[in-house]
Amino acid sequence: MNRRIFLRHLLLGGATAALLPGRVFAGSRQPAAEAAPTQRWAQLLDYARWAPSPHNVQPWKLQVLSATEAALYYDPTRLLVHTDPTSAFTIIGLGMFIECLRIAAGPLGFALHADHAPEPRLNYSTTVPQFFATLRLTPQAPTGVADRELIKQRRTSRLHYDGRSLAPALQAQLAATAAQYGHRLEFSAESETVDFVLDLNRATLFTDLDEPATRQELARWIRTTPAEAATRKDGLWNQCFGFPGRLMHNFFFHSERFQSAWKRKILGRVYRSSTNGTAQVAWLTGRFDTRTDWLQAGAMLQRLWLELTRHGAYLHPFGSVVTNAQAHAAFVQHTNLDPADGPLWLLVRTGYSAEPPRSFRLDVHDILQ
Ligand SMILES: Cc1cc2nc3c(=O)[nH]c(=O)nc-3n(C[C@H](O)[C@H](O)[C@H](O)COP(=O)(O)O)c2cc1C
Repeated sequence: MNRRIFLRHLLLGGATAALLPGRVFAGSRQPAAEAAPTQRWAQLLDYARWAPSPHNVQPWKLQVLSATEAALYYDPTRLLVHTDPTSAFTIIGLGMFIECLRIAAGPLGFALHADHAPEPRLNYSTTVPQFFATLRLTPQAPTGVADRELIKQRRTSRLHYDGRSLAPALQAQLAATAAQYGHRLEFSAESETVDFVLDLNRATLFTDLDEPATRQELARWIRTTPAEAATRKDGLWNQCFGFPGRLMHNFFFHSERFQSAWKRKILGRVYRSSTNGTAQVAWLTGRFDTRTDWLQAGAMLQRLWLELTRHGAYLHPFGSVVTNAQAHAAFVQHTNLDPADGPLWLLVRTGYSAEPPRSFRLDVHDILQ
């Protein structure tokens, strides 16, 4: 399905159009044979577009080739060259997106297979969408619809948590899922470790944002008014952090105003208090060298996050501690991680909170190309 056919489909109206928010079309005059392929993939995309991605960059593009085949591309203008130079975390996001397509295809009676391009790193030196994988649907016995609805319910919670940790049985179940993928998931509810992680995350975030290239790259994805968030449909909306829009805007776009020691101290306290109520942290270690490793990690993380959602629990990743070499080393030393388990690649706080605001997403028609 190319752009011309898809646009014609939209103009004539059809079942796909009904899936596109904000559009109402009259009955379709599109031949059924042409409408069906896009309709099926649009239905899957309407779930997968809710997959998480670093800074909510949503790098995915999908070209429908037939009712059972599509080409997945990524948009290089949405990559994070400074904060994700190896592409590992963006590829985790793409892996999560593919896993959501797979879960969404289950109730339709399809398994999803992905054949990936071999290059480990994404191409940062172009602005043209780049091929990522061929996706194929093959018939299988239909699976239940419950998991699929969790995709739309899942959110990151950066709000106050309520002081509870996950029940031991849930921790064991999540660790067993991670082990099936060859990873180790560990939890700590020791207040000394929780405080150490919350303090380390706060300090590292502020150190990283002192670096102009990191701050400017993140600033591209900061959305500080409801209109901006709703129009751009991507990035990090201040309401999802519980911070005032003006404060967040000034912090990123007028950083010179935040240089004095007392302002930094106050801001540090405000940020640290946003994590109040956290009773537990968790981390993942395991293979993390190649594109295949990152895709596997993404598929696993999506499964773990949906399981938390099923139990009404949330997580909040602390990416800076993982990617900042000094903070990473400090955490490894503090928790005495065994190098034999593989590198630390994810650290989160986890627990229960009020329902966070929903971050925006691109529409199905923004993703189809
Ligand atoms: C690989 C990965 C790393 C992430 N790292 C962070 C992080 O360091 N800090 C943070 O606040 N959110 C982080 N997130 C969460 C995303 O920002 C979030 O998924 C995105 O903004 C969409 O919001 P939602 O999860 O509420 O739908 C990460 C997500 C992914 C997939």
